Amino acid sequence: MIIAVDGPAASGKGTLARRLAAHYGLHFLDTGLLYRAVAWQLLEDGRGADDEAAAVEIAARLDLESISETELRTTGIGDAASIVAANPNVRTAILDFQRRFANRNPGAVLDGRDIGTIVCPDADCKLFVTASPEVRARRRGRELRAAGNDISDDNVLADLLRRDARDQSRAVAPLRPAEDAHLLDTTNLDIEAAFRAAVAIVDGS
Ligand code: DC
Repeated sequence: MIIAVDGPAASGKGTLARRLAAHYGLHFLDTGLLYRAVAWQLLEDGRGADDEAAAVEIAARLDLESISETELRTTGIGDAASIVAANPNVRTAILDFQRRFANRNPGAVLDGRDIGTIVCPDADCKLFVTASPEVRARRRGRELRAAGNDISDDNVLADLLRRDARDQSRAVAPLRPAEDAHLLDTTNLDIEAAFRAAVAIVDGS
C-alpha cells in the first residue's frame, strides 16, 4: 500500500504521515528532507541556493545519513530548499530514489508537495493536508521556539507564505492537490482528531 500525503509548509502533514506509517506498518519518507539536504550541502560548500549545476551534482550523490536532521529543520534551510526544489534537474535526480522507496514492501507513506501528482500518481490513497496560514505559523512557531530558535509567529508566517507562493508557482511539479486527493483541513483539529480523520479516509478508500 502506498499513501501520498501532500500539503503546504507546516500543515501538519509530516506528523500525520509518520503516524499513518506506524499505524499501517509502512515505511515512511519525508521527501522535504531530501530537498533540505541538497540545500544544506550547497550552503555548506559555500554556494548559493540558486547554484543549479552544483545543486544537481549534490542531488545525484545525496547521502542523508551523514547530515543531522536538526540542522535541516531550520527556517533558513526550508527557504533554501524551496529555491533548490524549483530546479527540474534536481527533482529528476531524486525522483527515482523516492519511487524505489515507495515500492519497497509492504509499502510506504511519503509526504511532500508532489507525491500524489508526480512521484506516486497511482498511490492507493492521496491526502492533501491544509490549515489556515495563521494556524500553521502558530504551530511551527511553537515548534521552532521549543527547539531554541528565537523567532516570532509573524516572521514564521512571512516565511511560510513566501515558501508556499514559490512552491505553488514553480513550473515543474508545483504544490497542488492531485485530482483524486482527499482534502483534510486541520485548522480546527488537534493532532489526534486529524489522525482519526486521516485513518477514516484511508480505511474508506
Ligand atoms: O516539507 P518541507 O517543508 O520540509 O519541504 C522543504 C521544501 O522542499 C519545500 O518548501 C518545497 C520542497 N519540496 C518539494 O518541492 N517537493 C517535495 N516533495 C517536498 C518538498
